[in-house]
Amino acid sequence: MGLLLTGGTLVSPQGTRKADLLIAGEKILAVEETIPGHSVPGDTRIIDASGMYVLPGFIDAHTHYGLGEGEDRTADGFYEGSVAAAFGGITTFIDFADHPRKGTLAEGALTRIGEAKDSVIDFALHQGLYRMHPDIPRELDELKRLGVTALKLFTTYRQFGVYLDPSAWKDLFPLCRDKRLLVTIHAEDDELIETISRDMPPKGLGPEMHPVLRPPRAEASAFMKAGEAAGEHGMPVYFVHVSSEDALRVVRKLRKGGVRVVAETAPHYLFLTGDHLRGPDGPLYLMTPPLRTERDNRILIEALSRGEIDIVATDHCSYTPEQKKRTGDCRFIPAGVPGSGEAAVLLYSLGTGGSGFDIERLSAVFSRNPAKVFGLYPEKGSLQPGTDADIVVFSPDKEGTLSAATVKTMAGYTPYDGFRYFGAPVMTISRGKIIVVGDNFLGDRGTGRFLRSGESSVY
Ligand code: URP
Ligand code: ZN
Ligand code: ZN
Repeated sequence: MGLLLTGGTLVSPQGTRKADLLIAGEKILAVEETIPGHSVPGDTRIIDASGMYVLPGFIDAHTHYGLGEGEDRTADGFYEGSVAAAFGGITTFIDFADHPRKGTLAEGALTRIGEAKDSVIDFALHQGLYRMHPDIPRELDELKRLGVTALKLFTTYRQFGVYLDPSAWKDLFPLCRDKRLLVTIHAEDDELIETISRDMPPKGLGPEMHPVLRPPRAEASAFMKAGEAAGEHGMPVYFVHVSSEDALRVVRKLRKGGVRVVAETAPHYLFLTGDHLRGPDGPLYLMTPPLRTERDNRILIEALSRGEIDIVATDHCSYTPEQKKRTGDCRFIPAGVPGSGEAAVLLYSLGTGGSGFDIERLSAVFSRNPAKVFGLYPEKGSLQPGTDADIVVFSPDKEGTLSAATVKTMAGYTPYDGFRYFGAPVMTISRGKIIVVGDNFLGDRGTGRFLRSGESSVY
């Protein structure tokens, strides 16, 4: 069976145009100004998309579904997280595989692919690398053959065993450059954070102190060190979750010096501030890096609107209020907030705020750019005939209010509670199948496929 979307406004980063779009099976078959109903096979379902935007499905390039163990396991596993994402118009997500304590990097990725088996939409993976050893070059080749072409490094989180000492970069970076693997970094200066924490009380450091413990200068310092190292080796670098003006300034400086920097931010750094960390619900707003100030929000939104920030991804990491409030100390509160389901309405709302952010930019930062940077384009992130029919139909007229009652995450809350929106996804199509219409989920557990990523467009 096919689908014909008629009369919609098709969106690409280059502009919008009125056109019909025909889907046959899992693929987009044609995009033309008019595709008459009588010219398509008889079993084609015709959907009137007039008054709607028709966009390539959104891509959430930074998620943590099914993360952790025991009591600290996220509320959303791969099924729940991907359903929430689908309601938000997301048709592809990219999650993270840990560096296994025993076994190769590719084995780590295969384990994670197995864990993601219940996903309802397609997904790719970034591979964590937490240790160097002599087999790493061979393991990287194997990983690339499997279709994992981006690595994730941390300059912090020693206590979780993911920290990779920057002294390892001199060996790792040239390898990644030569093999054309993209290095993505959670960059905060651990030494600086450790120094600050020495002056902090051993107990009872509330969530409102999290931005003091992990200040923008820790982010900026780590960006500079990693960016300069990347530049010395003539390779690009990708910074996840840019949260502050200070870090953005470093991105600009590095680029000015010729380093190819890809910058990602997350909706919470555009809409929320450190003030949310005060009061009894403060723990619900704790993530790393922490929330900053209204000025940081504004500067990041402007940078996003100008194209200085390339990608928005949610860093969806959903713990329940019970989990978040188990300890009042910001060093022990499980970090992260849910967001996959809400990102599209939040981002679309930026367009009405006079920032210059428009629907084309939304499509660029939340679909085309991540598809290109993570080697999934044009199969994902485009409306080109012959590619996967991953599509979101977006109504500029749908209004609503975000609340715990309306969001789909199993976290049971949203950090955007009370947010009024005008414009939201109304239908999500994954490889030719309608999986969300309005408030109804029509997809099936386990239909999401692992996507083999090609080389990043930044190489
Ligand atoms: O607080 C966050 N962001 N939790 C998820 C892990 C990470 O650092 O991205
Ligand atoms: Zn991170
Ligand atoms: Zn993350």
